Amino acid sequence: MYPNTRLRRTRQADWSRRLVRENALSVNDLIWSVVVSDTADPIEPVAAMPGVERLSLSALAKAAKEAQDLGIPAMAIFPHIDPSKKDDEGSEALNRDGLVPQAIKTIKEAAPNLGVICDVALDPFTTHGHDGILDGDVIDNDATVDRLIEQALVQAEAGCDVVAPSDMMDGRIGAIREALENEGHINTMILSYAAKYASGFYGPYREAIGSAAALKGDKQTYQMDPSNRDECLREVELDIGEGADMVMVKPGLPYLDIVRALSDAFPVPVYAFQVSGEYAMIEAAAANGWIDGDRVMMESLLAFKRAGAAGIITYFAPRAAKLLG
Ligand code: PBG
Repeated sequence: MYPNTRLRRTRQADWSRRLVRENALSVNDLIWSVVVSDTADPIEPVAAMPGVERLSLSALAKAAKEAQDLGIPAMAIFPHIDPSKKDDEGSEALNRDGLVPQAIKTIKEAAPNLGVICDVALDPFTTHGHDGILDGDVIDNDATVDRLIEQALVQAEAGCDVVAPSDMMDGRIGAIREALENEGHINTMILSYAAKYASGFYGPYREAIGSAAALKGDKQTYQMDPSNRDECLREVELDIGEGADMVMVKPGLPYLDIVRALSDAFPVPVYAFQVSGEYAMIEAAAANGWIDGDRVMMESLLAFKRAGAAGIITYFAPRAAKLLG
């Protein structure tokens, strides 16, 4: 009891604060999310995400080298394709010479020690902007899974290290794992977006990859209800059983309770995705002088570590890495 106990004693100096510090952010925690485009030349700003650009392949090569030099472990790539290449079934996702396979090869050539993570989902490639194939108004789960298997194989063949299904179809992790094993891609990791919520925080991303104008309806029949917590435990249990190596929570900061619940419950690495809307909010407030952007960026990233995340997918990765430098 006070005065014998004074919690301010250990806070009084920098050295003692550092000594009692419970969590720390390091460059090893950062995965850089980048948007690659087949139309940008060499870069094209994303209006809702100041500081984020759609990168051409040549700009991507430069970014990959920068990431490797900064010690960032991995890059997660998201494609923006010319609308003329989109169709109802997202066929372009299966093109072995498409943008994503080219981007994987570009990164591997420029920065051989950088991990490459690819989104498995059809939304950048469909005219309707959904992650799967429509049967009338309904996303057909099993027909979609068949396509996702092919998409994941195309990525693995191109040299992708980690396939990250973000589509939320049932059964896709097991199906993708089996296909990877059968095709000899036994070392390709699966990072499952296991707890992905139907969120308004993805707005700027949909502009970035060009699916916003296309999207008809919403994604509530496949992404999780923001009201639910227990359900994330079931999602993750299934995905681990099906062969996921790592799992993800998305969005990030508004869902730190989910990160904590999963990291307490399961002995697998749990990642958090600081999504486009979170990035946009911090940048918008900073641009108005309402918050200190760098400080809030670092505080938000540290919060993921405190919640138990093994790492964070973030558009801030290079900026944070430089500050950690
Ligand atoms: C969809 C996908 C989304 C994001 C990554 N993959 C959005 C969505 O579900 O519509 C969002 C990323 C972000 O907001 O930064 N496959």
